[in-house]
Amino acid sequence: MSKFHILCVVGARPNFMKIAPIMRALAEHPDLRGSLLHTGQHYDAAMKQSFFDQLSIPEPDIDLEVGSGSHSEQTANIMLRFEPVLLEMKPDAVLVVGDVNSTVACALVAAKHGVPIVHVEAGLRSFDRAMPEEVNRVLTDQMSDLLYTTERDAIANLEREGIDADRVEFVGNVMIDTLLFNLPKAVAASETLAAVSAGAPQRYALLTLHRPSNVDDAQTLTNLVTVLLDLHRDTPLVFPVHPRTKKQLIASNNLERLRDAGVVLLEPQGYHQMLGLMRDACVVMTDSGGIQEETTALGVPCLTLRENTERPITVTEGTNTVVGTSADAIRRAHKALLAGSGKAGRQPEFWDGRAAHRIADHLATQLSQGTVS
Ligand code: UD1
Repeated sequence: MSKFHILCVVGARPNFMKIAPIMRALAEHPDLRGSLLHTGQHYDAAMKQSFFDQLSIPEPDIDLEVGSGSHSEQTANIMLRFEPVLLEMKPDAVLVVGDVNSTVACALVAAKHGVPIVHVEAGLRSFDRAMPEEVNRVLTDQMSDLLYTTERDAIANLEREGIDADRVEFVGNVMIDTLLFNLPKAVAASETLAAVSAGAPQRYALLTLHRPSNVDDAQTLTNLVTVLLDLHRDTPLVFPVHPRTKKQLIASNNLERLRDAGVVLLEPQGYHQMLGLMRDACVVMTDSGGIQEETTALGVPCLTLRENTERPITVTEGTNTVVGTSADAIRRAHKALLAGSGKAGRQPEFWDGRAAHRIADHLATQLSQGTVS
């Protein structure tokens, strides 16, 4: 019997840590074979190649090289470039991960051609349609034939949207597969910080920001920077700056404010460096989805600078507190945490390093039984 061909899609940074264990599990499975397509949504070395190198992801078989643009432009360009590739490759299934524009664009092309779609990290919902990722999640799940979930709340969300329970399988978290696999290779924060600044702090709060709702509006960003600079007096900030955020910080004159106050500003970090920076922080403040999960897995307190989370298990079982973006709420949460109210948390079910193998086994069974075709 020839192996089932799974065409795996990645596009942006948070996809890379999710695909790494899946590519390994597919390569090890006797009935499956994976190939990899990169849409080119993220293309800078610091946003792409360093992750492929550190996580030993095979070089993509295909790179669509779409680059940046408005959301519609980016999504449309991916679709136009993906269609002929899909028709040429004729995979048995297209596997997409997460919630970025590349995810929904490739799923839509596969759906139009009747190619089965596998969605890894299905069912997460922030219930905030103003988030581009929320639209991508809802649409991708509606089109998918097999939906793999990271937490049980996701199953209930899918059920509510009328998705047949037979198509949904709770497998755990592939991003945590990657975290556990790479933890021994984490680079100590002291090493990363010593390389950029001789006077870098031992005790620090790690900050990341990139959500359009936090960084795209100059006044919102300025207000956030003001409160974060207050906190910086108690707990020095270390801030790896996303390219989108860097542009907005420069345009709103906030990069200088941060620099003048002595905030340690870093380029986007490699995976092993970021893992060490998270592990060694006394608190992480973020608007990222993935970092909420990674801090839960690491047992490090996380303050989420958003009004909601699509990953509720990080709050109910993990170390995450959804704080919002008002200055008072951020100050209060930070103070409470320093006073010792940080959550210890526990490891969520199936966040055990085996999620990708569960996916490969389940997928192979479904394809060989003809349940998905
Ligand atoms: C995307 C994802 C978001 C994810 C984030 C992680 C969507 C809707 N959003 O947001 O879910 O959390 O990636 O990073 O898909 N840029 C570079 N170099 C790059 C890539 C981007 O400089 O390699 C700059 C470009 O100027 C671009 C901007 O960053 O316009 C934003 O990139 P884009 O891919 O549109 O979205 P992200 O904000 O990165």
